[in-house]
Amino acid sequence: MVRKIEKLAVLGAGTMGHGIAEVCAMAGYEVVLRDIKQEFVDRGMKMIRDSVEKLYAKGKLKESVETVMSRITPTTDLATAVKNADLLIEAIPEIFNLKLETFKECEKFAKPECIFTSNTSTMSITEMSKATNRPDKFAGLHFFNPPVLMQLVEVIRGEKTSEETMKTLVEFVKSIGKVPVRVEKDVPGFIANRVVAPRSVLLFGMLEKGVATPEEIDATLRKAGYPMGAFELLDYVGLDVHYNGQKYYSETISPDFTPSKILEEKVKSGQLGAKTGKGFYDWSKGRPEIDLSKAGKIDPLDLVLVEINEAVRLWEMGVATPQDIDTALKLGYNRAKGPFEILKELDIGYVVKRLEELSKTYGKKIFMPAESLKTGKVREAFY
Ligand code: 3HC
Repeated sequence: MVRKIEKLAVLGAGTMGHGIAEVCAMAGYEVVLRDIKQEFVDRGMKMIRDSVEKLYAKGKLKESVETVMSRITPTTDLATAVKNADLLIEAIPEIFNLKLETFKECEKFAKPECIFTSNTSTMSITEMSKATNRPDKFAGLHFFNPPVLMQLVEVIRGEKTSEETMKTLVEFVKSIGKVPVRVEKDVPGFIANRVVAPRSVLLFGMLEKGVATPEEIDATLRKAGYPMGAFELLDYVGLDVHYNGQKYYSETISPDFTPSKILEEKVKSGQLGAKTGKGFYDWSKGRPEIDLSKAGKIDPLDLVLVEINEAVRLWEMGVATPQDIDTALKLGYNRAKGPFEILKELDIGYVVKRLEELSKTYGKKIFMPAESLKTGKVREAFY
């Protein structure tokens, strides 16, 4: 059975929370948007208004700006946010204990049938659900930035998530005009973020070894057709969010993911990317200009290979089908092709050899080729 969802609580009015509230309100849902301080709620509401006005001016809104805005109730009070909700979406900072405490508090006020979800980028849904009395009605609901433009939402099954909860969330995602992908195993980073995680290790390895600068790498990627350069995207997502994600992977997957000192310095100095006006780039005047003439210092295929390797591992672990992994990358990161679609066109012998070389050059075990790449069994994943 699919359960009826009418009222939502979105916790956190930051980069993701405001966008999630906006998308849901545009689809006709009543949303209470909650943050801990009035100024955070006000800023979130202003970002929503600016975005909705932009969409209205372009003729991309079916209703008036005021109609959409009237569906969103801002508050700092958790009980007000949660008490009538059929679905709760948590989008607070990526600090595990903070999430646990928040879910524990929500349990006091929420209706027993309310579904709890987390928009975490990386963290264990199963562990989070233990803070509540409803692990069967607890799942991951992972949006991509900016939610208003990105089509993918990952629906993540924790160990105890019921099929009814999964189905209800899949239908909910469709009802807001997005594409759901089911993540059947709760692994760190789920699908899209997990596939790109080793790319970040390679990117910072390149910086540390002086192979190329962020702009030289980004120019290469932009020239190769990516919608954003890699460092531009990190700035856009937030360097603190990225740092916390890599740290979590270093603790749960492999120490190879330990965040680079270069990233740590940026975060420590408060240069968090677009939201603070400065990260690897200056964002004070909007998106940075990247000088494409600086392209050519790296082979962009190397970055693709470490992603393909991780995608193959996810398939080996039974996290998702190759089709869903490709869809996740295409719709979550706006890539032209998914990792399996690219792999099909490559010489697998070369992929294995190059991954071994990258592993040696950068001293990272995570770049070693996945088992089914070495044996050729990966061909069974081609569809
Ligand atoms: N609301 C309304 N309109 C918006 C908007 C918003 N929030 N953000 C951008 N726009 C509009 C812009 O105003 C612009 O309008 P215009 O064409 O009239 O000027 C239009 O959208 C296009 O924007 P841009 O000119 O800035 O640039 P692009 O054409 O490159 O499109 C993009 C923007 C879709 C974000 C594109 O750059 C892209 O696909 N980037 C990659 C995004 C990505 O990979 N996201 C995933 C990040 S990882 C993640 O979220 C996971 C999490 O767990 C961390």
